Amino acid sequence: MNEASSLAEPCFPLPRRAVVTGAAGFIGSHLAQALLGHGVTVIGVDRRSAETDPSAAANLAALHQHPGFIPITADLSTCAIEPLLLDADVVFHLAGIPGVRPSWGPRFHDYVACNILAAQRIMDAATLLRVPRLVVASSSSVYGHTDGRPSTESDPVRPASPYAVTKLAEEQLCLAHATRPDCATTVVALRYFTVFGPRQREDMVVHRILAAAVEGRPFPIYGDGSQRRDFTYVQDAVAATISAATAPIGSAVINVGAGTTFSLLDVIKHARYLTGRPVVTEHSPRRHGDVPATCADSAAARRLLGWVPSVDLVTGMAAQLATLTAAHHNATL
Ligand code: NAD
Ligand code: UGA
Repeated sequence: MNEASSLAEPCFPLPRRAVVTGAAGFIGSHLAQALLGHGVTVIGVDRRSAETDPSAAANLAALHQHPGFIPITADLSTCAIEPLLLDADVVFHLAGIPGVRPSWGPRFHDYVACNILAAQRIMDAATLLRVPRLVVASSSSVYGHTDGRPSTESDPVRPASPYAVTKLAEEQLCLAHATRPDCATTVVALRYFTVFGPRQREDMVVHRILAAAVEGRPFPIYGDGSQRRDFTYVQDAVAATISAATAPIGSAVINVGAGTTFSLLDVIKHARYLTGRPVVTEHSPRRHGDVPATCADSAAARRLLGWVPSVDLVTGMAAQLATLTAAHHNATL
């Protein structure tokens, strides 16, 4: 097993100049950091900035010091896109609104603008500028309710939440553009399976369970905790994403998940073991649109991207806990 924080060696030649949208976010900031570590120039676009958003500031802290990082604060649903993409070898389009449960609420228009409309605008500009490759962040949520067996990319899709509908629309929109005769851009849509690790979003379950243990407050559990997720460590997700930039393939949809699942009760057990503290649970009803299980068939990622995930749940949770404990310590000084 690799160190949870180490950078995997790239499987394919690296791009020279990359655009990362959503660079102030959880996965985007790790991706930008890894690309910079490999000597790639990164144009990091996000509508949040370090000046106005503390969580963006924490995500961007390591990037801002790097000479190869060019930060741009812009809203992709309204800004001019073409100047951002000039001379790019690849666009990693990770910007979007990610939560499953809030997508039922009044913010749905933001999901449509940021997940669908922004993708259309990026794809139009990429086509016009003949950017060779667009890698777009899709989601395991497009599969919806499954029987718990590993989902393959050719399985039927049955999105169970408005969020999942927008992610399916996003990937299919980009793939449809890629079939146009005038389009020189190939699209690789990566269906990420519940990504975790340092700087995970605060609404996500591993963060919430570890934070509850560290801060000694109750963890709200939606349902009975038997729901299972194919948890994917962020550096593993980043390794697949970097390979997707230059892998010698045509347009494709590829799962990014290891195919091993854990229940929330398992995550709680590991959190107790890692922190040496209790996790007090507060039960509330299962949320509508929450699927009982996600599980990836990772054969395509292995075959097309040479992807082999290397960090398991406990090792990755330990790395996430270390970051969280340090942040908690600084906040209480
Ligand atoms: P995140 O919220 O941490 O990052 C997304 C970033 O996109 C944010 O910084 C946000 O400000 C930015 N953004 C949103 N709309 C924008 C716009 N209109 N213009 C510019 N910037 C905009 O989310 P994340 O967990 O890092 O997820 C990244 C991507 O991966 C999302 O597209 C999400 O749907 C997808 N995804 C994430 C997971 C996961 O487990 N985290 C799993 C499957 C798919
Ligand atoms: C996650 C991401 O948030 C999505 O952006 C992503 O698209 C999706 O994974 C994916 O794999 O495609 P989700 O599975 O809802 O979505 O991940 P979490 O928010 O970490 O929730 C996991 C489970 O924990 C859910 O069943 C949720 O109901 C439960 N949960 C979450 C709780 O019981 N309590 C909480 O406080 C938070």
